[in-house]
Amino acid sequence: MGEPMSIRLAPSLLSADFSRLADEVAEVEWGGAELLHLDIMDGHFVPNLTFGPAVVRAIASHSKIALDAHLMVTDPDDLIDDLIAAQVARIAVHVEVCNHLQRTLENIRAGGVEAGIAINPASALSLLEDALPWTDFVLVMSVNPGFGGQDFIPETLDKISRLRQMVGERSLDIAVDGGVCLENAASLANAGATTLIAGSAIFGVDDRASAITDLRLSATVGGVR
Ligand code: DX5
Ligand code: ZN
Repeated sequence: MGEPMSIRLAPSLLSADFSRLADEVAEVEWGGAELLHLDIMDGHFVPNLTFGPAVVRAIASHSKIALDAHLMVTDPDDLIDDLIAAQVARIAVHVEVCNHLQRTLENIRAGGVEAGIAINPASALSLLEDALPWTDFVLVMSVNPGFGGQDFIPETLDKISRLRQMVGERSLDIAVDGGVCLENAASLANAGATTLIAGSAIFGVDDRASAITDLRLSATVGGVR
């Protein structure tokens, strides 16, 4: 790669204290995070259940931070209108569950929201290649989705490089989600990731603002690493 692209940080609310969500969001907003990552799980696509549009609406009304919805559900089309109404900034749907991916991505964009494709560690990049013209970002899962705090799967680093090569000159954000930490932030950025999603590495420590700053520094070529 030539000039390194700037890195965006997206704390994942999944690792926050759910009994004080407004305070948790305020803390990472103050800490300089560009996005707030929201993991919406239905207990079917993944073996875990989180929250839906009502909670997203409540968060949106208490914060100015851009909301990044990650739909880990078997029927993402059912949620898109409500999330657009909740004023999220972006929505990622999983390639593994979308039978009509082009239509789903166009529906998201029609609502003025950035459209993303999420892809599991063992799913082939070829599944999303033909959908890139309707895609604003790809969310590469670096753990199997469902839970925070899992170990980064190292093979997904090569997948990020291959995806960056695949998109070529196209301006496309590559987000990486799962096990992101200080130790792998630089390699992820060098491979071509431009958004780092981090749950436990940010909400799992007392000083969230420092965690965000340190991750950003680690990810920046010529930074502390
Ligand atoms: C996992 C979620 C992630 C999760 C990441 O299914 O999609 O967003 O919160 O958590 P960490 O950073 O702890 O792996
Ligand atoms: Zn996620």
